[in-house]
Amino acid sequence: MRRLLAIVALLGACHPAGPGAPPVTDPIPRPEDPASGRPDVHSFSRPQEVRATRIGLALDVRFDERTLAGTATIAVARHDEQAPLVLDTRDLAIQEVEAAALDARARDAPLAEAELAWRSTPWALGPVEPHLGRPLVIRLPPGADVVRVRYRSDPNASGLQWLEPGQTADGQEPFLYSQSQAIHARSWLPCQDSPGVRTSHDAVIHAPAPLRALMAADPDPSRTNAAAGRFAFTMAEPVPAYLIALAVGRVEFAELGPRTGVWAEPSVVANAAYEFSDVERMVRHVEQLYGPYRWGRYDVLVLPPAFPFGGMENPKLTFATPTIIAGDRSLVALIAHELAHSWSGNLVTNATWGDLWLNEGFTVYIERRILESLYGRDRADMEAVLGRQDLDDALAEMAPEDTRLRLELAGRDPDDGLSDVAYEKGALLLTALEHVYGRERFDPFLQSWFSTHAFGSVSTVQFEAFLKEHLTSRFEPLSGQQPVDLAAWLDQPGVPADAPKTRAVAFGRVDAAAGRFADGTERVHSLPTATWTPHEWLRFLRVLPKDIARERLAELDDQFHLTSSDNQEILAQWLEVAVLRGYTAVEPRLEKFLRTVGRRKFVLPLYRALLARGRREDARRIYAISRAGYHPITQHSLDAILGVG
Ligand code: BES
Ligand code: ZN
Repeated sequence: MRRLLAIVALLGACHPAGPGAPPVTDPIPRPEDPASGRPDVHSFSRPQEVRATRIGLALDVRFDERTLAGTATIAVARHDEQAPLVLDTRDLAIQEVEAAALDARARDAPLAEAELAWRSTPWALGPVEPHLGRPLVIRLPPGADVVRVRYRSDPNASGLQWLEPGQTADGQEPFLYSQSQAIHARSWLPCQDSPGVRTSHDAVIHAPAPLRALMAADPDPSRTNAAAGRFAFTMAEPVPAYLIALAVGRVEFAELGPRTGVWAEPSVVANAAYEFSDVERMVRHVEQLYGPYRWGRYDVLVLPPAFPFGGMENPKLTFATPTIIAGDRSLVALIAHELAHSWSGNLVTNATWGDLWLNEGFTVYIERRILESLYGRDRADMEAVLGRQDLDDALAEMAPEDTRLRLELAGRDPDDGLSDVAYEKGALLLTALEHVYGRERFDPFLQSWFSTHAFGSVSTVQFEAFLKEHLTSRFEPLSGQQPVDLAAWLDQPGVPADAPKTRAVAFGRVDAAAGRFADGTERVHSLPTATWTPHEWLRFLRVLPKDIARERLAELDDQFHLTSSDNQEILAQWLEVAVLRGYTAVEPRLEKFLRTVGRRKFVLPLYRALLARGRREDARRIYAISRAGYHPITQHSLDAILGVG
């Protein structure tokens, strides 16, 4: 009650149709996940009272100002007639808010440019909270069930990256893309930015010629006029705000299969199509395991190299880093991963960011099932061993309480909860369950998890109940297997001692070769590399001893030209190995790499390696040149690591 009064007071204090006066000090309560009773501590919105159901975006893309400007039209369901609509925002300039009632015609039509009897309505922005931005509180007149917010994004919006032509592959045109996960959608559209709130959406995007706008949605040709720079989209399936995505650039399309394709800059598209030629087959293999693909098309958009992630599972249109284009299809695990999210994450979504393992752990597990199904057990095992090593490295560094699967993130940035724990410990738990109950039981169990919760949001509490009901209390462990101690996996730090052991036969041979090479009993020419896949190379580099002589590294480089490797995964690993051991011949390549590539997985370890060698000044000098080209998320992490800003 007190909370409600605070919001009413906030609205009372503001101009009938303008920005609010002094903001309230009472915290605005958070949406609750009804299944677990745990609030989403990362959203101001109150969907139990007023819930957004549909969004229509009409936005102008202004490269000169680095802003998106226009309107977000939001239809709502009012469960509490007295309550205002509360939206999340971050650095948005709100200009005007209007309200209306949807008429019968508007109910089925796109919302983006809906012509309704719009009337100004009172609104106010609450105080800025660390990590979260500010609530936008909107009074809803009686009978109103749709609002239209006129706004502009900030040039430094955390969820957008505006690239200069020089930062693209072709170097001719600027590029814009969004990255909304985890809570950055609010920096480019006002929304209920909680993974527990799903809306359908439509959009009209105006972009300057010769650029094309793409969204993680279906294009709507009837409302598009590409020649006039107008691009329309609809997303009929309800999705959480973190999956709303936009990109604008000079891109072309290549078909991969009947429902799959790739978008990329003109000079990249042919290589991308070659690299991803297995994607159509991948979709079929996942469908066989976990049920139909529910999103129509599956396309991949290759972004410029500043993209801070390997990939982002935007529905219907995965966004991917160009650093997976290796020329030999060796890095397509990333596509398998993003595709797998079409089930784990996009179809069935973590209700809060503390449940991220339900998205990422499931996805890594499925990713490896896809690899096994397409390329065989050895390939999947190698990926699993590399993943286990990542997990062990993370566990060694992290605070124990952060190594639980079920996380408590109140007061923290959800991006800080992002670690290999959700991914690899999560996947390991599912592997443990698979081993104990067998695939005959476990595969249908997962399939029913997805079909039961399709287009819903789920908590760890729901997983516990579903697992008990449909697997662990229904079936006995296979002979010789012990039940899985679920509570230990979810709420204890580290990895239980009886976790499945991950082994890859090929790596035994690689480890032996690395040992012999390091201690001088095997010469560089006789290393058995002829048959090595990139995974074996990665393993080799990772197990080289810390104190290996620099001459050995020089021999490797002379023989295998690692410093000029075209495989960015191998290159990044090699650069890290070299920096950590003071092999300085890589320096020019290192600097060039850090100036052009913004993928955090590569960039963060390289800066950390420089610091570990006591080279803070070099790290800062390179960062000073490179920072402007990095995504706000990468900047944020590196500012902290390097003590800048
Ligand atoms: N959804 C994630 C990326 C993400 C997670 C962005 C959390 C923001 C917050 C994506 O599916 C992912 O996991 N990408 C990985 C690649 C994968 C193969 C492990 C990446 O970018 O490295
Ligand atoms: Zn993922």
